[in-house]
Amino acid sequence: MAETALSVDDVLAPLFVRQGIDTPVPIASLPGQHQHTVGSLVTEATRLASLGVPGIVVFGVPDRRDAEGSGAWDPDGIVQVALAELRGALGDRMVIVADLCLDEYTDHGHCGLVDSAGVVDNDATLALYQRVALAQASAGADVVAPSGMMDGQVAAVRSALDGAGFDQVAVLAYAAKYASALYGPFREAVDVEIAGGGDRRGYQQDPANRREARVEVALDVAEGADMVMVKPALAYLDVLADVAASVDVPVAAYHVSGEYAMVKAAAERGWIDGPAVMTEHLTAIKRAGARMILTYAAGELAEAVHR
Ligand code: PBG
Repeated sequence: MAETALSVDDVLAPLFVRQGIDTPVPIASLPGQHQHTVGSLVTEATRLASLGVPGIVVFGVPDRRDAEGSGAWDPDGIVQVALAELRGALGDRMVIVADLCLDEYTDHGHCGLVDSAGVVDNDATLALYQRVALAQASAGADVVAPSGMMDGQVAAVRSALDGAGFDQVAVLAYAAKYASALYGPFREAVDVEIAGGGDRRGYQQDPANRREARVEVALDVAEGADMVMVKPALAYLDVLADVAASVDVPVAAYHVSGEYAMVKAAAERGWIDGPAVMTEHLTAIKRAGARMILTYAAGELAEAVHR
């Protein structure tokens, strides 16, 4: 009789692949997660696929960075290489999503090009996102997920894909993405530090705003988003419920690094029952209206089902 039943079908696993390493590197702030080599990434994705996890979201950690973030669209860039290997190994067994952003690839750590005053140039960034989308689609991504919160990013990416014959590649828009402190462990996972102690409040949303999310989401749907995302998840369940009620496209929620890490840290101290809290949190995110949840707990959820 339960209204909400969480299953492996509901989750996507974010995975990190790092250039220039021979063995996977554990991420201290995300227990159980690694910066993968291309080989270990393929092994992990294959394992998750056999456990029934329907998709993965791939993030790259390059070994060099520049002002433009050119590694993000380089055909030999780490994510492109990884996507091709994943596609070859997995065929159509899993949906492969590529996170589309520049922050992992820029030397200043911002999600877009910065001008001489250090301010992100929204419109100049769009052309670069188009290049990244084409590189990721060519390498085998089923879905590209623009996460930089530039205005017009969905329309730009969609038209670039359609113009190059990638009309079958879907766009998962990080539509309501907040300037949250909960991304801390992620920045360790991708070795990103924002230059000069900066932040992303110029392009990500103010956590104090609820109605603004509806506006952002409506814009992305109008621009052609196939799916929209709310991020983070738990502290924004009101936003998630609003969005789920206001659009007809599938709604995703990102259960972000800090949300996962908090559960792991408290469980490690024996203060909470980790697996129980994790399941409760993910169930609440689904209950609020998420049709899919990006979570670092995807693997453990799948293992529990198969135990
Ligand atoms: C940007 C991006 C970030 C996350 C996903 N995509 C970091 C940011 O916006 O600063 C965070 C995900 C997480 O914390 O789990 N490429």
